[in-house]
Amino acid sequence: MQEFTINGATGSSKIILDNIPDCLPDLLPGADVFVITDDQVKSHWGHFFPNAPVYVMKAGERSKTIDTATDICRWLTKVGADRSSFILGFGGGVVCDMTGFVASVYMRGVSFGYVPTSLLAQIDAAIGGKTGINLDGFKNMIGTFRQPKFVLIDPQTLNTLPDIEYRNGLAEAVKHCLIADKSMFNMLMEHIPDILAKKTNLIRQLIERSVRVKVDIVNRDELEAGERRKLNLGHTWGHAVEKTDTIPHGQAVSIGLAFAAKLSEQRGMLKKTQRQDIIRLLQLLGLPTETNTPAALIYDAIQKDKKKEDDKIHFVFIKEIGSVEVIPITMKELTKGFI
Ligand SMILES: NC(=O)c1ccc[n+]([C@@H]2O[C@H](COP(=O)([O-])OP(=O)(O)OC[C@H]3O[C@@H](n4cnc5c(N)ncnc54)[C@H](O)[C@@H]3O)[C@@H](O)[C@H]2O)c1
Repeated sequence: MQEFTINGATGSSKIILDNIPDCLPDLLPGADVFVITDDQVKSHWGHFFPNAPVYVMKAGERSKTIDTATDICRWLTKVGADRSSFILGFGGGVVCDMTGFVASVYMRGVSFGYVPTSLLAQIDAAIGGKTGINLDGFKNMIGTFRQPKFVLIDPQTLNTLPDIEYRNGLAEAVKHCLIADKSMFNMLMEHIPDILAKKTNLIRQLIERSVRVKVDIVNRDELEAGERRKLNLGHTWGHAVEKTDTIPHGQAVSIGLAFAAKLSEQRGMLKKTQRQDIIRLLQLLGLPTETNTPAALIYDAIQKDKKKEDDKIHFVFIKEIGSVEVIPITMKELTKGFI
């Protein structure tokens, strides 16, 4: 068992890497428990759910809306959830974001925990207490900061995760390498076939190291006033591509990472050889690094992005593999990367 702790102003969170049947019963409180999941996850892992009422969302990003949140709140009222209840989100990043959001606002906030089941959720979405739902196609426009009581990561759930979803999670792992763990980058590069084959010991290492990168940053800057912005590496461009191309989050992040590497090289911050290594790793992991969408459409989507303050965007540049810097830049400077 491996354990990490986040101690934040919005609560403390225990992140545990272990197996569900042994750990989940002890983590759940004596209070009434209500489970939120999606139809895919329920069909594979429903036998691990606690004996409790279950709300089943339709799987996928399209469910991450205010309508779903409202529907879940109505359901919670109907099944008798009150302020002492506990909500368990069991699923991928969409389920975790939705659970965290609903738990933050239902009756002004109830306790919650996660069992993340996709790689992306295990190393990123479930960690750090940020929740978000989409509005009119724009990503995470409504959200809260609130820590789950626990995050129980069981790598065995990845056995049923479709390959494409698994690769989406690998994009966030590459992001963590670029931010703060060069040796994990090298480890990925050296073990591509085994990583793609989900070899257990490597996956555990990958999850542990990725979680550590995120936990360390969140412990230093929970509310994203400064350093946490580094975790948005690849996301300025990525979120815009996700919206314009309607591709999964992880693929969009991969394209965003490639774009960040390009802009960093153009600015003289990143060596050409390192940019090439980043692109090669993403491609060898089966991830896209380019989009065919006209730049003007992406530009338009970025302008509407919530992370734009006045005319400046806090863009995350890569200085070298394992080190990044957040620099406010204008939209005009950003467009240099289009060329
Ligand atoms: N809050 C945060 O800090 C944060 C960080 C990163 C990403 N996110 C959000 O996370 C979301 C993406 O997460 P995701 O990629 O997990 O998407 P997802 O939740 O849609 O899961 C992807 C697909 O995999 C299926 N799935 C999940 N676990 C499975 C399993 N074990 N076996 C079989 N199928 C399984 C789901 O049903 C879904 O169809 C995005 O909405 C993104 O904005 C949030």
